[in-house]
Amino acid sequence: MISRRNLLKSIGLSAFALPSLPTFAGTATETETLLDPAEPEFWKNVRNQFALDRDSVFFNPGTVGAMPKVVVEKMTTHLNYIASHTADWAYQDDNKEEFISGYNNLLSIRTKVGKLINASAAEIAMTDNVTNGMSYIANGLTLQPGDEILTTDQEHGGGQSSWIQKEKRFGAVFKTVAIGKPCLNSPDVYDKITKALTPKTKVLMLSHMISGSGAILPVKELCAEAKRRGIFTVLDGAQTIGHIKVDVKDLGCDAYVGCFHKWIGAPAGTGFMFVKMEHLKTLWTSVSSYRWDDHTDEGFRFTQRGTGNFPVLKGLDAALDFHFELGPDRVYERIKFLGKRLRDGLRTVPKVKSFSPPDESMCAGITVYNLEGWTGKKLQDRYWEKGKMRPRSQGDVFGVRHCTHIFNSEEEIDRAIALVKEWAG
Ligand SMILES: Cc1ncc(COP(=O)(O)O)c(C=O)c1O
Repeated sequence: MISRRNLLKSIGLSAFALPSLPTFAGTATETETLLDPAEPEFWKNVRNQFALDRDSVFFNPGTVGAMPKVVVEKMTTHLNYIASHTADWAYQDDNKEEFISGYNNLLSIRTKVGKLINASAAEIAMTDNVTNGMSYIANGLTLQPGDEILTTDQEHGGGQSSWIQKEKRFGAVFKTVAIGKPCLNSPDVYDKITKALTPKTKVLMLSHMISGSGAILPVKELCAEAKRRGIFTVLDGAQTIGHIKVDVKDLGCDAYVGCFHKWIGAPAGTGFMFVKMEHLKTLWTSVSSYRWDDHTDEGFRFTQRGTGNFPVLKGLDAALDFHFELGPDRVYERIKFLGKRLRDGLRTVPKVKSFSPPDESMCAGITVYNLEGWTGKKLQDRYWEKGKMRPRSQGDVFGVRHCTHIFNSEEEIDRAIALVKEWAG
């Protein structure tokens, strides 16, 4: 149960949010009851914290998420502040004056990110997105001709392209291994990937969660095996941050890149990279400024990337606070609960073909499916025309990617299932 003080701290940050929570004004006992996540009212109140329109249903945080009102408010307040008070900027201490990012060490925000993924701020650099982070790592590592980079056959362009460039530019060898769509189960994926490792493999790059199927890969076990063989491991967490628990120490990876604009409700253009200190020390910067060779704060060496947008980081800060105050585990459970409800419902429709793993332990809030004979575009368009619902097409074969999040309700999921049943005849 969330304490009244903490939840109000979160939602009370927003002047817009307060009027939408009249139910919280009551006796302490009533309030406590309403704040119990088991109560249906609780998630309705959470839904009220989002600016999302009421006339449509959003099922696509896998592309870009929905921002809580408090995030928008924090961002616009800061934007207004710097627009009206630029003259206040004395150019004395980049780390204190919050007019532009890019020269500021962003220590407070890096510390919050560290808390989220169980890493120290020193090992974290702020980036704009996953593509940036992955590129910094690929470009910063030195590989020799013939060195192999292994990944799956289902990676996103923003995760794999910097490694393909490594092949074209330096003669490294980029290899992919087919893991099945749907993936069968974790042992099968583990076997397929480990069988493709060779004595020449120097880098294992994997999505922690595959964006085109929602499959959570057995990355902990794979990182342990790679470590035994002296292989550098880097995980693409574009789909995991704010969606499932990420503990980089427990996973045992050498590097992890993620973004906040999908599942944690931060503004677009917010991401991070984590690299274990032993590797970060020797990683070359791809974007270089004064600190490019200053090793007193390794995370800052990579965070210093030239003039950037501070209001966006204020929004990110608010999104992280919102997530922590709601309780990360509670958020992950709710996302999975709704995702499973959708998958269970779809399973009862014989004409539905699922591309998400049949093994629930590999699934959370992403479900990818199609109706026999349909294209993804047709399914996406029909959802919009008939239900004002927005999952995202995955092309001709794979149908739609249908994400569930804390701003969705059981009723919305059930309505989507009913529509699919109707179309399936
Ligand atoms: C697995 C994966 N990697 C990388 C990316 C690219 O992320 P970004 O646009 O934050 O760079 C995405 C975006 O959807 C993704 O799903």
